[in-house]
Amino acid sequence: RTIQQLLSAPPIPPNLSQVSITGWVKSVRRQKRVAFAVVNDGSNAAGLQVVFSDPISAQRLSNGTAVRLTGQLADSPGKGQAKELKVEQVQVLGECDPEEYPIQKQALSTEYLRQNVHLRARTDTIASMIRLRDSLQRSIHAFFQDEGFLYTHTPILTSNDCEGAGEAFQIASQPSSQDGQPSNTLETTEKESVKESHFFSRPTYLTVSSQLHLEAMATAMSRVYTLSPCFRAETSQTNRHLSEFWMLEAEWAFTERVEDICSLVEALLKSTWKHSCQERIGLADEASSHLAHIAPQFEQGKSWQRMTYTEAISELSKHQSTTKSPFVFDPKWGKPLQSEHERWLADTLVRGPVFVTDYPTSLKPFYMRANPDGKTVACFDLLIPQIGELVGGSLREERLDVLKENMVRHNLSPELYGWYLDLRKYGGAPHGGFGLGLERLVSWMGAIENIRECIPMPRWAGRMLL
Ligand code: 4AD
Ligand code: MG
Repeated sequence: RTIQQLLSAPPIPPNLSQVSITGWVKSVRRQKRVAFAVVNDGSNAAGLQVVFSDPISAQRLSNGTAVRLTGQLADSPGKGQAKELKVEQVQVLGECDPEEYPIQKQALSTEYLRQNVHLRARTDTIASMIRLRDSLQRSIHAFFQDEGFLYTHTPILTSNDCEGAGEAFQIASQPSSQDGQPSNTLETTEKESVKESHFFSRPTYLTVSSQLHLEAMATAMSRVYTLSPCFRAETSQTNRHLSEFWMLEAEWAFTERVEDICSLVEALLKSTWKHSCQERIGLADEASSHLAHIAPQFEQGKSWQRMTYTEAISELSKHQSTTKSPFVFDPKWGKPLQSEHERWLADTLVRGPVFVTDYPTSLKPFYMRANPDGKTVACFDLLIPQIGELVGGSLREERLDVLKENMVRHNLSPELYGWYLDLRKYGGAPHGGFGLGLERLVSWMGAIENIRECIPMPRWAGRMLL
């Protein structure tokens, strides 16, 4: 059993209280007649205090040593822990040279830990993040199950660049047989591209978003969601962008209002906050006080604010013209909201999460549903304090003729997107959905400053260690 299972199990009768634990030594304190150590197996934040009545038996133990310890689990007389293990038997499973071990007890810089990314899960902060990430995902699954959504999977290798932002990583073309010809050359289009020797007979990318595939599923299964890795050749070095990240995406057939999708997202995030409370306990002290400060935002009674993009631009422009510390970029209708704008809206104007809806058509991808005004689309971004955009979503254009026009405008070939048009041709139904960056959620709900500390092994432009 893990340490956490042991500690949360019902009390053990005294005659049966001999237990074994396995884990890594976090610290050792030797006194004359007794020695103490903390052993951690990653299952909880604090690990377990263990006591050696004979300090010699703890001699071979140092920070990082892998051990199996057997003894009696007893109530602890000390402060700070309810139980301790009185060790009777020590088995060293793996030694760890304290002189060489890169994970020392004193504070280690963030960059040092990024360089030692294979070892950093051994630090309290990264271990807490990994447990928080796990608990957020569990609560996400629980929420969607309650709402009748099916969990499904979508391809990682794809022929489309869903967002059309030109950030898709293309996978290297290579011949799949000795003579340089791919083996599956059945269709005309495939035959043509044989000349280019693409493995899949056409250019192939790592997915930037599961959305289009998810729509295919939603137009049969009604409510679906997925948690999938996404890849973007994003060169900006910020605290909220990764090259490989995980996106939660949901698609919902027969929904006709952006407001309904916003409400679903709000309910999801409030439920996720509530159910991951326990896992926030192990986070750093500063994080805990920050989280106590933002907790009221998640109260059930209060709805998060909604405003249109047009209203947001008007508020931003007012601020720009009346303040001594204006934005670097002028807020202007038709221009994207810069991250300084997003943060000001959430941090200063609203002081909490805010849904910004109905962006100009020209700023958004081809699949978003046109509003009757002809200038905007039925979409939203959820902006949160300090981070900016956490979620993006929209109604999808279900009208075949309008979608075809959009595709022409965006230069998308009917050959590649014919299947996507079929979804409208055959029983096309109103539908919508959203995508949420999991690492940004971890950053928000864990008060972790940089997204690179919100995934165990981050990748960003210029950094790929293992
Ligand atoms: O706003 P985005 O680009 O939207 C889509 O991809 C839609 N197709 C999603 C959908 O409607 N199904 O990305 C969605 C979210 C962003 O709000 C952000 O949280 C996260 O994904 N995201 C990133 N997270 C980390 N690093 C990056 N480079 C990210 N790019 C987007
Ligand atoms: Mg977006």
